[in-house]
Amino acid sequence: MGKYEDVFHASSEDPESFWLAAAQGIDWEVAPRRALDASGAPFYRWFPDGRLNVCFNALDRHVEAGRGDQPALIYDSPVTGTRRTYSYTRLRDEVATFAGGLARLGVGQGDRVVIYMPMVPEAAIAMLACARIGAVHSVVFGGFAPHELALRIDDAAPKVVVSASCGIEGKRVIAYKPLLDRAIELAVHKPQKNVILQRPQERAELGTDDLDWADLVAAAPPADCVPVPANAPLYILYTSGTTGKPKGVVRDSGGYAVALHWSMGAVYDVGPGETMFTGSDVGWVVGHSYIVYAPLLVGATTVLYEGKPVGTPDAGQFWRVAAEYRVKSMFTAPTAFRAIRKEDPKGLLTANYDLSALRYLFLAGERLDPETYHWASTLLDIPVIDHWWQTETGWPIVANPMGIEAAPVKPGSPTRPLPGWDVRVVDPSGDPAPPGVDGAIVVKLPLPPGALPTLWNDDDRYVASYLSAFDGYYLTGDSGHIDGDGYVFVMGRTDDVINVAGHRLSTGSMEEVLAAHPDVAECAVIGVADALKGQIPRGFVVLKAGTSREASEIEAELVQLVRDRIGAVASLKSVAVVAALPKTRSGKILRKTMRGIADGHDEPIPSTVDNASVIDALRPVLRSPDSTP
Ligand code: COA
Ligand code: AMP
Repeated sequence: MGKYEDVFHASSEDPESFWLAAAQGIDWEVAPRRALDASGAPFYRWFPDGRLNVCFNALDRHVEAGRGDQPALIYDSPVTGTRRTYSYTRLRDEVATFAGGLARLGVGQGDRVVIYMPMVPEAAIAMLACARIGAVHSVVFGGFAPHELALRIDDAAPKVVVSASCGIEGKRVIAYKPLLDRAIELAVHKPQKNVILQRPQERAELGTDDLDWADLVAAAPPADCVPVPANAPLYILYTSGTTGKPKGVVRDSGGYAVALHWSMGAVYDVGPGETMFTGSDVGWVVGHSYIVYAPLLVGATTVLYEGKPVGTPDAGQFWRVAAEYRVKSMFTAPTAFRAIRKEDPKGLLTANYDLSALRYLFLAGERLDPETYHWASTLLDIPVIDHWWQTETGWPIVANPMGIEAAPVKPGSPTRPLPGWDVRVVDPSGDPAPPGVDGAIVVKLPLPPGALPTLWNDDDRYVASYLSAFDGYYLTGDSGHIDGDGYVFVMGRTDDVINVAGHRLSTGSMEEVLAAHPDVAECAVIGVADALKGQIPRGFVVLKAGTSREASEIEAELVQLVRDRIGAVASLKSVAVVAALPKTRSGKILRKTMRGIADGHDEPIPSTVDNASVIDALRPVLRSPDSTP
């Protein structure tokens, strides 16, 4: 039995002992005596009798252990020409001071703080400051528009919002404050105060409810860590659901800290004093877990990079960062590597940098296409590790665990389930699918520590969305198969979630925006394959009878509407006015058939189709976005 089998076996035979042993990697105010409380199933609780503070574990304990001078966080921003290193002592002090500032504003244990910030260290400082005083943060990705921010403000009901005067997108400076002001105007819930980090690239005008970050910290005494129950929420992170209302994924404190700490050694093979660079954004789960919390929990150094893989200013920036900070594990989305490859197909820019410290490249967020896998592994000549996870899970479900044992890679598969994850593939009636046969990917309950315990203020939606399809199993929303060697192949979503440049978006929410246009009678948005971004959305609308305006005018309005309501990150650039949409006899739009045709497949026409001729009429426009229907 290889080491992977040993560890996996130990975790499934005796999860109680396995996770209690893993919990020893964390400093507890009150150490847990039990790992799992299943008495409230399907609402499971990890480490029910433990108390801890996650910020203490991420910062203070390392200072106390003598790591105070070691870099904790390196801010590298090619878009502003800034580099700044925070030692563990400095980061702890700045976090404690900001936490003191939040406390002065009345933020206490359990209160929510929405953080809407670009990739600046103050975003991580604000997150850790919340954790320090037991407040619950909810970071909203900067690429979302005011309407999306307003939805999250209304759901989380924050006492305070923390934001910045601007973000920098490539060469553009994007003023954040007007977006925040608009969101607060749209929201029913009104935060008491907004703390604004003034950036020199564009300062914001502050109103009566706004406070300058610098003024707040100048007057604030440092705050101590407040120990909280292991089950206290650390954060809420909203993710796309099937409707326009995002799902507020709740993350507990103790289970998450244990799982992340364990994963750093087992999966990423990064320990104290080593450096990890995760090229993502703090607005996504990857950023929460592997830019901020996990590297700090183990006393490693994390790189927070404000820039893009290409164009800021070139496709060599990831190599520069890896070389300059002696990065051991790099983690990003496959799309970033496709972008680099497009600019520098032969990877010539790597020659300018010393990549001798780089041991692994981890990729996640979307399917790793074998071509990108081969390109990256040939170029870097290090293990390229595809791994599969979700906002809901907080850490990987399936991975090739570099700190346990490197298994042979099968391109197209993220390898085998990690300890804690009992992954199955089932057919529509819930029966196990034979090896190699596609079905719904589910995970047997209970989920391991770190995974979501519920949705914010919505246990019913948690059960309805994830637990009701197959009794006793968590529905991942992904489909795929497991082969005879136990390798999992994740092929795509079974719902209307799409992955655009590693960003998770809902076509359903884009349809809601299109349907709200006064000239639109009905619409469909589908995710189609894209060589760079993995998938991109395309919209199709049927106009109301009697609409006489130019189709092209309406199409442009619809593209703009989605940009205004959801944000530029939606990347909806093509909307086509069509005569009709293909439907089943019961009136369901055949989105899967449309998607298959758009992707160039020989898509079978379902027998339930009502209007087959519509499909023939639509075929040219589906195949080529530029042709007119
Ligand atoms: N604030 C404001 N606008 C933002 C934004 C932010 N934080 N992030 C993205 N946008 C905007 C972009 O500027 C772009 O606007 P445009 O349509 O005017 O050009 C739009 O949203 C779409 O962004 P994106 O899909 O990211 O495309 P891009 O062309 O700017 O960059 C990649 C493409 C592949 C380089 C980039 O997406 C990337 O690096 N992705 C991989 C890493 C990653 O973050 N993955 C997430 C999970 S691991
Ligand atoms: P997010 O919640 O943004 O992390 O997106 C999660 C979704 O991204 C998953 O449900 C998958 O559809 C997709 N995904 C993430 N990682 C992978 C991977 N390694 N392979 C295939 N799909 C992935």
